[in-house]
Amino acid sequence: MENLLNTLQNKLQDSGQDPENYLKGLVHNQAINYWDYIRVDTLLSLQNPRTHFKDETIFIVYHQITELVLNLIRHELNQLCRDEMEVSLFTEKLGRMLRYTDLLISSFSIMNKGMSYEDYNQFRLSLSPASGFQSAQFRFIELMCTDIDLLIPAYLKPMVPEGATIGEKFPFLYWQEAGHNRETNKKTKTLSDFEARYLPEFVKLANEMSTQNLHVTYPKYLLKANAIEKEMLVAALRDFDKKYNIEWPMVHLETARTYLMAKGETKTATGGSQWEKYLHPQFQRRIYFPELWSEKELENWGKEG
Ligand code: HEM
Repeated sequence: MENLLNTLQNKLQDSGQDPENYLKGLVHNQAINYWDYIRVDTLLSLQNPRTHFKDETIFIVYHQITELVLNLIRHELNQLCRDEMEVSLFTEKLGRMLRYTDLLISSFSIMNKGMSYEDYNQFRLSLSPASGFQSAQFRFIELMCTDIDLLIPAYLKPMVPEGATIGEKFPFLYWQEAGHNRETNKKTKTLSDFEARYLPEFVKLANEMSTQNLHVTYPKYLLKANAIEKEMLVAALRDFDKKYNIEWPMVHLETARTYLMAKGETKTATGGSQWEKYLHPQFQRRIYFPELWSEKELENWGKEG
C-alpha cells in the first residue's frame, strides 16, 4: 500500500498536481456505475423513427449496430496500418476483423427475415434519398484496406487521366456507378449530398493511406514471418477479402431482393441506383488483395451457385 501511495504521489508530482488535494477530492468522488460508463440512456435515445411503423425502429437500430461494428473494424485497421507490431499480433488483429465481419454476415437475417414487406415498403419511402450507400465508415474501411487504383473498375481505367492525383481518381471509383450517369454527367442527390459532406475527408484519408493501407503494409509482415506465420497471415487476408467483399454483400443483396423485388416488380431503391446490378460482388469486383487469388478464383469472383 505504501509503495502504491509513493508511486501515485510521484506520478502526481511529476505532472504538476498536488497529491494532497487530489486525495481529498477522491474522498467525495462518486463510484462509477454501469449506466453512466456505457452511456446506456444516450444510446437508447438515438432512434428517431419518421413513421409509426414498428419495424422502422428495428431498421434504425440495426443500421446503428452495423455502424458500431464498422467502427470496431476501423479500430483494428488504425493499428494495423499505423503501428509496428509482431507478426502474430498483426494476424490476431486480422482475426478480429474477421469475427466482426462474421457478425455482420450472420446478423443480417435480422433485416432479411421478420420485417413486414408491406410496412418496410411504406416506411422506406419516407427515407428517400437517404441510403446505406451513404455510410462513410464503409468507404473509410476500403480506403484503409487497399490502394485507390484497386477500387477503380477495369472498364473505367482507360478514362482516368494520365498522372491523375488521388483526388482526381475519385470520380472513377466503383461506387460512382450507384449514382453517376456518365452519359449525362449527372449525379443522383444521394451521391452528390454524400460527396458534398464527405469527399474532402475521403481524399485526405486516401492520400494518407496511400503509403500505409493494409495492402501496402501486409507484405512487410510477410517478409519477417516464418513459414507457418506466413500461411496464417495469407489465410486471414484471403478470408477477410472473401467475407467482407462477397459474403456480406451477398446477404445484403439477398435482403434487397426480398424487399425490393419479391412480388414480381423491381422497386426503385431510396438511393436510386440500379441496385440489382450495382450491389452484386461480381459487378463491383471489390477485391482488396487480388494478388492473393488465383486467376480462376478471380474469374469466379462473386459468382452465385
Ligand atoms: C432492408 C434492408 C436493406 C435494404 C433493402 C438495402 C438496400 C440497399 C440498396 C438498394 C442499396 C443500393 C443503393 C441505393 O440505391 O439505395 C444499398 C446500398 C448500401 N447499403 Fe443497404 N439495404 C438494407 C440494409 C442495410 C444495412 C442494415 C446496412 C448497414 C449499414 C446497409 C448498408 C449499405 C451500404 C454500405 C450500401 C453501399 C454498398 C456499396 O456501395 O457497395 N444496408 N442498400
